[in-house]
Amino acid sequence: MKREQWKSQFGFLMAAVGSAIGLGNIWRFSYLAYKNGGGAFLIPYITALLTAGIALLILEFGVGHERIGSAPLAYARINRRWEWLGWWSVIFVMFGIVLYYTVIIGWCLNFFFYSFDLVWGNDPNDFFFNKFLHISSGPSEIGQTRTPILIGVIVVWFFNWAIVYRGIQKGVELANKIFMPLLFILTIVLVSWAVSFEGALSGIKAYLTPDFSKLSSPEVWIDAYSQIFFTLSLGFGIMITYASYLPAKSDLTKNAILTAFINCGFSIFAGFAVFSVLGFMATSQNLPISDVVRESIGLAFVAYPKAISMMPAGQLFGAIFFLSLVIAGLSSSVSIVEAFSAAYMDKFGGEKKKIVTVLCVLGLLGSIIFTTEGGLFWLDIVDHFLNHYGLVVVGVGECILVGWMFKLEVIRRHINKVSSISLGVWWNVLIKFIVPMILSLIIIWDLYHELEQPYENYSWTSLILIGRDWVLFTLVAGIVFAMRPWKTDLLDQEIVRKPSE
Ligand code: ALA
Repeated sequence: MKREQWKSQFGFLMAAVGSAIGLGNIWRFSYLAYKNGGGAFLIPYITALLTAGIALLILEFGVGHERIGSAPLAYARINRRWEWLGWWSVIFVMFGIVLYYTVIIGWCLNFFFYSFDLVWGNDPNDFFFNKFLHISSGPSEIGQTRTPILIGVIVVWFFNWAIVYRGIQKGVELANKIFMPLLFILTIVLVSWAVSFEGALSGIKAYLTPDFSKLSSPEVWIDAYSQIFFTLSLGFGIMITYASYLPAKSDLTKNAILTAFINCGFSIFAGFAVFSVLGFMATSQNLPISDVVRESIGLAFVAYPKAISMMPAGQLFGAIFFLSLVIAGLSSSVSIVEAFSAAYMDKFGGEKKKIVTVLCVLGLLGSIIFTTEGGLFWLDIVDHFLNHYGLVVVGVGECILVGWMFKLEVIRRHINKVSSISLGVWWNVLIKFIVPMILSLIIIWDLYHELEQPYENYSWTSLILIGRDWVLFTLVAGIVFAMRPWKTDLLDQEIVRKPSE
């Protein structure tokens, strides 16, 4: 069967940017920047982008394009014994990250509608945690499913299904060609509107005033590297799959650099809207900025609704804000479903439409646990473990596999042959030494702190049963999938690209 292909390089770029720009770009970045020294955070953030982010993104594009496969197939074509790594990544992303990611998009969808009537009233904090989430006492008390959230999640999974079902050109590419420009326009509207609020300047000052003393703390650097990893969708198996749909003549380095800069530029730009609103709130309530900034979830679902109620024409502002989040989130969740379905089809064959349908039903069922009264706790724990011990570990694995178990030169030569910007030997040094070293340090640091103090003071039982075991189950599932016999002949085919393909 012929591999699907993007219609245009622009379509590919929009899809890659769509996957990269997600929920985390709009408020998580702003919050991290504020917490970690304001303008000074840009130093570790950009350092992480330049020393690890772009190099790894180029690696993922290069591997997908040269080996022509989804993550498991591409890795197996490099070294058969490493197929499990590809499976593990697409499994913990499909049966982990996207399950709660879609639930957060579902919250945003609800808040989009709530904006029109400012449903949260005078106390958005009480509204979000008690009325909307109906939050239980802890992860062991799951409670009931929250109907509004479940409905939101059903809608999100429907969109995932409807987009991926239509295939690469008519589904993923077309959706992103609409979503991305729309998201950029909405964000420009938000930023230009927000900077006109009274007090906006004080917020922007808080966002950008550098506090260089923070740079000596290792946590600031770890936050920067982890954020770059998540925001560029590295270790998800997505970028490998997306690059495998590119024609032979494709400018890989240029597209990687563009994807990375558009994504990070978007985050920095959106930060102006977030902080102008916080500045406006601080000024209207006569409070210092530090009193209105909250942790990431609170920022979007508590602090923002409060500001929306206070500003002129807040209903419209709120609707645009939550709609932007829904669009940014959808374009990322779609890429996750695509990465798994491609992996499955590469190995077991079958009809894409059927596979995507089954996958989205399973995804919806898997999301249900996160729509319950205890869902927020589950989300928090699973997110922590999969990000820290899934994505980053896969990143190290990729560097070892391609850098050490294979001739990295093959990939570099291939990339240079098709790209306009040539990679020097420095790229080999980054992939072989610098990136795996930095990522390994992060893992060691994380593990050390994990054992020192239970994450967010959850009970060890919850952390082990929910977090650690989620990582382990997906790992075992990855190994089992890798051990199953190949039903297609893709692994045995010689991989040659005809220039016309
Ligand atoms: N890269 C996506 C995000 O930032 C997953 O949300």
